[in-house]
Amino acid sequence: MRFSSAFAVLRCRCKRRPSVSFSHRRCFSSYPPPRPSFGIAFDIDGVLIRGQTPIAGAPEALRRLYSDSGGLKVPFLFLTNGGGVRESKRAKELSLQLGINILHQQVLQGHTPFKDLANRFKEGLVIAVGKGEPADVMLEYGFKNVLSIDEYASYFDGIDPLSPYKTWKTRSMIDKGEKEPCKPPHTRNVFSERVEAAFVVSDPVDWGRDIQVLCDVLRSGGLPGRENSHQPPLFFANDDLEYQAVFPTNRLGMGAYRIALEAIFNRIHDNALEYTCFGKPNPSVFRNAENILSHLPCCPNVEPYKGNSTITGTHLFKTIYMVGDNPAVDISGARQAGHPWFSILTRTGVFKGKENDPQFPADLVVDNVGDAVDYILRQEGFV
Ligand code: G3P
Ligand code: MG
Repeated sequence: MRFSSAFAVLRCRCKRRPSVSFSHRRCFSSYPPPRPSFGIAFDIDGVLIRGQTPIAGAPEALRRLYSDSGGLKVPFLFLTNGGGVRESKRAKELSLQLGINILHQQVLQGHTPFKDLANRFKEGLVIAVGKGEPADVMLEYGFKNVLSIDEYASYFDGIDPLSPYKTWKTRSMIDKGEKEPCKPPHTRNVFSERVEAAFVVSDPVDWGRDIQVLCDVLRSGGLPGRENSHQPPLFFANDDLEYQAVFPTNRLGMGAYRIALEAIFNRIHDNALEYTCFGKPNPSVFRNAENILSHLPCCPNVEPYKGNSTITGTHLFKTIYMVGDNPAVDISGARQAGHPWFSILTRTGVFKGKENDPQFPADLVVDNVGDAVDYILRQEGFV
C-alpha cells in the first residue's frame, strides 16, 4: 500500500500512538457497538476540494465513514478556515459536491466562533467583510444590526475614489446576463450610527476598497470622515497567509489581507492596529472540534450536539486525526492542541514536499485524503 511506505519513512513523532479499534471487541459481544474511540477532522481547501471541484478520491474516502444504512460510522467533521456562508448552507453545498449527507453540525468554519460574540455587541452596528454572504452569516449567529461592507460603503459618496473605474463584469455576471448591482435605498443613518466592531468573515473581494473603508471606520472610532478616535474591535476569521485553490500555486489568503491592512493602518495612524484572529491553528478551535465530535449522532444513545461553540473540554477520544494540507495551520494547530490529536499532512494542497515539513512536521505524511482514510481505518481495525 502506498501509505505503508510513507508511514514507515515519514511518521516522525512515534510517541503518540493512535487508539485501538472497538471492532475487535464487538465481535465477542451482543451489545450494540460502543462509540468509536477515535474521530476525524478534515480540512477542506487543498484536502477535499480545490476551487469548487472535489480532489480525486475524496468522495470515495468520505463514503467509507458511513454505514450501509447511511448513518455515520465514524464521527468526523470539517474543520476549515474558509467560509462566507452559513454552516447549514455550506453543509448542503458540500453534500452536493462530495455526494454524501453532511449535517450542519459537522461544518466548523473560520468564522464559527464569532457566534460567541453576538451577545457582546447586542444591537450595536457591526460590519461584515468578505466574499459570499458575510452579513447573513452574522445575522444567523445572533448579531442584530449587521451591514455587509458592500452595503455600508455604498452609503458614502466618494469613499472609494476608484469605484468609477471599476466597470468590469465578472464571467458569471456575463453568463447569467446580470446587470450592474443597484445601489440599496438610503434607509439608514450610518453617518451618525457608530460602527461598534468590524468582522472579516471571509476573504475580502475588493482589497483596495476594503482596506480604505476599514481604515476609515477604524481610525475614526466607527464614524468614517470624522476626527480620529478610539479604534473599534476588529476580528478576523483566520490568519491564513496562503491557501490552495484552483491555481497550481498557493493563493493569498485572509492573513495576507490582514498584513496589508495592518501595514497601511500603522503608517496613517498613531496607534498600532489592534485585532483578534480566530481559526486554526488556535488550539481552542481543536478543543471545540473535539467537543462537537463527541456529540455527533453516529451511535445509539448519544444526543446530537445542540450547544454553541463554547469549549467544554470533553476527552472521550483516544485519538482524533487532523487531515490537513497546510503545515503552519492544520499541523501546527493539531500539535499545539496535543492529546488526543494526531496530524496527517497531505500533498494535495499548500504542502507539496517529498518529505515532512521541516518547521511543522506532521505525525504522518501521505499523498492524499484517500491514503489518510485508508491509514486511519486500518490503524483502528475498521478494515
Ligand atoms: O479561504 C480558505 C482558506 O483560508 C483555508 O481553507 O479549508 O484549507 O482551512 P481550509
Ligand atoms: Mg487547507
